[in-house]
Amino acid sequence: MSFQFYTLPIQKIKKETPDCVSITFNVPENLKNVFAFKEGQNLTIKHRINGEEIRRSYSICSAPHESTLTIAVKKVDGGLFSTFANDMLTVNDTLDVMPPSGKFNAHINNTNPHYLAIAAGSGITPIISIIKHTLHTQPNSHFTLIYGSKNRNAIIFFDELENLKNKFMQRLTLINILSQEKIDADVFYGRINDVKLNGLHKIVPFQLFSAAYLCGPEEMIFAAKDFLTTNGLDPAHIHFELFTTPGQFAAKEKTTASNDDASNGPISHITIKLDDRTFSFDLAYNGPSILDAALKNGADLPYACKGGVCCTCRAKLQSGTIKMDVNYALEKEEVDQGFVLTCQSHPTAEAVFIDFDVK
Ligand code: FES
Repeated sequence: MSFQFYTLPIQKIKKETPDCVSITFNVPENLKNVFAFKEGQNLTIKHRINGEEIRRSYSICSAPHESTLTIAVKKVDGGLFSTFANDMLTVNDTLDVMPPSGKFNAHINNTNPHYLAIAAGSGITPIISIIKHTLHTQPNSHFTLIYGSKNRNAIIFFDELENLKNKFMQRLTLINILSQEKIDADVFYGRINDVKLNGLHKIVPFQLFSAAYLCGPEEMIFAAKDFLTTNGLDPAHIHFELFTTPGQFAAKEKTTASNDDASNGPISHITIKLDDRTFSFDLAYNGPSILDAALKNGADLPYACKGGVCCTCRAKLQSGTIKMDVNYALEKEEVDQGFVLTCQSHPTAEAVFIDFDVK
């Protein structure tokens, strides 16, 4: 993939809920290949607001066969870009967009094509892309979606989900769980956790699924993962993506604190390779992350969340050793192959070589 940003005009903005918009980009013919995407991938957006450069990563909610490139942005308290996108952005404005990335994709199982998805809030965004793609490309597949929202008005893609349910009547089961509005039986009211999932046992055949996709807050993901594992699903077939991490702020605070004593202790010689060019700098073991230090040294490296979630800063450790503060994005196999999140990485060897060119 390319780490370059491209300026794309906005073709359509749709209010999905009072505090969530979907944004469709107009991708010119000459960039169609660059912006070809897989279901469940995300886009990193770069934009200047009040003189400050903001980078954010948002999941694509369209599916590859739909030939549109659409993301959804939910307004978060104090969120600079999400507030701007919901309140100010208009059709024909432009945004700087990095080509799609991410490995939260569909895993097709031809022997047992029964899949489960559990999402909360804007976690529905990559999930709806995966569901549409799977139902479209695997005609004998079945999907069950358990989707948590605050109330009916907060259900993102409400109409689209209803249309999908009508279109794939025998193949898509949709279960809405509302945490702040009780309109049905108790089992459909509350938060998605192990107790709630256990309560759904009578209507959801958890033992049947060959794969599960989870997207939402950390708490929900780990509760669902534990529940599904206990109910017999192989952890290797439970795929998840976080969109917020309670630990993210702490991780940043820790990094900031460690910057103060960055000159103490051992120093590592870091070499970075990107686009066939290498550059080097020295970094204390207890200093800022390798990504932050490289950016400070003038490198134009890819990143978005800086919280170990989006995977935009992924690179391969070719030699030396590092330790990561957190990792919410890399699969075990990727870590085993030497991939690291540079926004979370600190050197633990005299020399470290990080390669952004290996995919
Ligand atoms: S920038 Fe998002 S995981 Fe590193």
